[in-house]
Amino acid sequence: MRFPDDVPTLSTGVVRLRAHTTDDIEGVYEQCVDPVSQRWTTLPVPYTREDAADFVARRAAAWEEDRDWGFAIEADGGAGASRFGGTISIGPKGSGIGELAFGAHPGVRGKGVMSAAVKLILDWGFGRMGLHTVTWAANAGNYPSWRVAWRNGFTYEGSSRATLPQRGEALDAWHGTLLASDSREPKTRWLRPPRLTAGRVVLRDVAVTDERRYVEATTDSEALRWLGAIPMPRTPAEFRLMYRDRLLSASLGSALRWSIADAEDDTYLGTLNLFGLGGLDYNSGEVGYHVHPDARGRGVMTTALRLLIGHAFAAESDGSLGLQRVSLGAAATNPASQQVARACGFTETGRDRRCYNLPDGSVVDLLRFDLLNDAA
Ligand SMILES: CC(C)(COP(=O)(O)OP(=O)(O)OC[C@H]1O[C@@H](n2cnc3c(N)ncnc32)[C@H](O)[C@@H]1OP(=O)(O)O)[C@@H](O)C(=O)NCCC(=O)NCCS
Repeated sequence: MRFPDDVPTLSTGVVRLRAHTTDDIEGVYEQCVDPVSQRWTTLPVPYTREDAADFVARRAAAWEEDRDWGFAIEADGGAGASRFGGTISIGPKGSGIGELAFGAHPGVRGKGVMSAAVKLILDWGFGRMGLHTVTWAANAGNYPSWRVAWRNGFTYEGSSRATLPQRGEALDAWHGTLLASDSREPKTRWLRPPRLTAGRVVLRDVAVTDERRYVEATTDSEALRWLGAIPMPRTPAEFRLMYRDRLLSASLGSALRWSIADAEDDTYLGTLNLFGLGGLDYNSGEVGYHVHPDARGRGVMTTALRLLIGHAFAAESDGSLGLQRVSLGAAATNPASQQVARACGFTETGRDRRCYNLPDGSVVDLLRFDLLNDAA
């Protein structure tokens, strides 16, 4: 396509996509020296004004050689003026496949600009350009980017290890796709772990500062005895990976993960997970938990589980989960875990025989418990 003559202007309300001009160089420069842009993209670092001028100059050849259909984003700059808001592009890969890429100028972030820009470029890519598939990839952990793709209907396809290049490093990636025939509505219910407090016990998002005590809790002899055969972070490096991905399953509507902490000094006391939520039409979930050794025996998990149940059973219209049922499994030889279930009113519903591997090589029965939402 000829640049800029064949580059369309696409607009919706306050967001406009158009061909880059040399007037964008300063905006491109400001965007590319921003640490958030540098963290999540392949920009050269350090970034100079010459790099920005070169980037803008290369847009013409990218269009003319059909390598990258890139648009400058114009967004509301306040007081009726518009401003440079970033760059968005689709890289055609042949066979009706295009790769989406975007970056927002820091001055416009968090206002829905990129979500609107993605909608515009998708309408054009699937419509005028006849694309069949648009792919999205981000460095693992880039939740704002995933949120933009999610909001536009992308399906999360999974992660891949060490596959995205960034300045000489190979980073883990998250991948998504959108087909021309897909709806543009979110495909999962994006959940968030709310902060819940009772007395001195608080359920909150996992914090990076939980690392040392989290690893102590999962490598303690009692935890190893009962949970040693279950994969969970047991080293600082494994903790950091879990920390990066901790909200991903929540965004897919399948699981919530909390740290239990002391409400007064925020010390990590344990972990409580609700999993098996399974998409938009779920009504049941299962819990798993462990407590740091120095916090055991004082009712921490019972209080934490009661808090979780309150959130699980309260109505969706109140921002809770509206579940019908919460279940849990405890090794038949683990009385402390069974006691938590009973103290929270769970009913023992059965026994899965010889299914639970313990690290000492024994295989024991698992007692099954559940609790129904009587208000449902
Ligand atoms: C990703 C990026 C382009 C988003 O631009 P934006 O204009 O802020 O996007 P929007 O305002 O349309 O949407 C951002 C969404 O992410 C959400 N968000 C922001 N930080 C978040 C976080 N840490 N966790 C989850 N969601 C987050 C925002 O609340 C918003 O969601 P909402 O629409 O429900 O409110 C911008 O953050 C950016 O330029 N980042 C650096 C470059 C980059 O990462 N590019 C993508 C590479 S794959």
